[in-house]
Amino acid sequence: MRILKVPAPAKLNLFLHLTGRRPDGYHNLQSAFVLINLCDELVFELIEEDEVRIEILDKRAGASFLNQKIDIPDNQNLVFRAATKLKEMAKLRGVEISGVMIRVEKQIPLGAGLGGGSSDCASTLMALNKIWNLELSCEELKQIGLSLGADVPFFIGGKSALVEGIGEILKPFHLNPLWFVLINPGFSISTPQVFTHPKLNRNFRVMDSDAIEKARAEINAGRFYGSNYLESAAFEIRPELANFLDFAKPLQLRMSGSGSSIFSMHVSSDDAETAYADLLAKLEEQKDIRSYECGVYKSYEKHPIFDVL
Ligand code: C5P
Repeated sequence: MRILKVPAPAKLNLFLHLTGRRPDGYHNLQSAFVLINLCDELVFELIEEDEVRIEILDKRAGASFLNQKIDIPDNQNLVFRAATKLKEMAKLRGVEISGVMIRVEKQIPLGAGLGGGSSDCASTLMALNKIWNLELSCEELKQIGLSLGADVPFFIGGKSALVEGIGEILKPFHLNPLWFVLINPGFSISTPQVFTHPKLNRNFRVMDSDAIEKARAEINAGRFYGSNYLESAAFEIRPELANFLDFAKPLQLRMSGSGSSIFSMHVSSDDAETAYADLLAKLEEQKDIRSYECGVYKSYEKHPIFDVL
């Protein structure tokens, strides 16, 4: 197999509660993660040269220059770091592998709370494990993933989960199909800036198993449970997000991850389409969010990479 194309879906956090802070500064959390059908595509091509080469192309719907290259330094590029790490492991184990050229076609906005970089990283680990015949187990891949980013293990797990620890503990969290109206407000928010913000809501409280089950039932009925504790800090950084949520209150919007994306949740495609129309009307009326991308997306029951690998 010389060329392999795999998807890397976005995630949404249906709620996100902080439950503590570790000495290294990372936060323990309890969060319901779900995969949605907004995907980056990654193309892997084996090459003669003993190298990892990366090209990232902008394929986002609202991109002003479609197919323009996006420059991310290698040390910040999770795809590069994942591939390099696996290559080093292969060498240590004495496995012969060739070089690889990876083309990332970005559809998921960056710095948007949708886990795009982490998902690209997870898909890279899973695809190269296959292409290079490394035979690493899912648990081994998750461990490598965690060393690259807290959200990576969730994507390797490949289905809706209640995520705990800093991202390494995945508990089953079965959800019925859900539809989401997603708005990306056209700016990014820095995750470390949110997590270190003095106004961050650190009202640490751990949900017991009854509360978790209640949360699941509420979500399956199309109602939000709990909250996203990161909103308070993100809204200080970007007050226009808070203003818009306030203005569009009847639409019941919530932020995903550390922002900037916000979304509503629905149990049918028809409900989502109606909400989408209402949202477009609200966006027309207001002045806070100038440029935006929005659309209707559906939850995945399982990671679409499993149909390919
Ligand atoms: O692991 P990742 O690179 O995605 O995390 C980015 C930043 O977000 C970390 O440097 C940390 O400041 C913060 N973070 C956190 N607790 C988490 C996840 C991320 O404090 N569980």
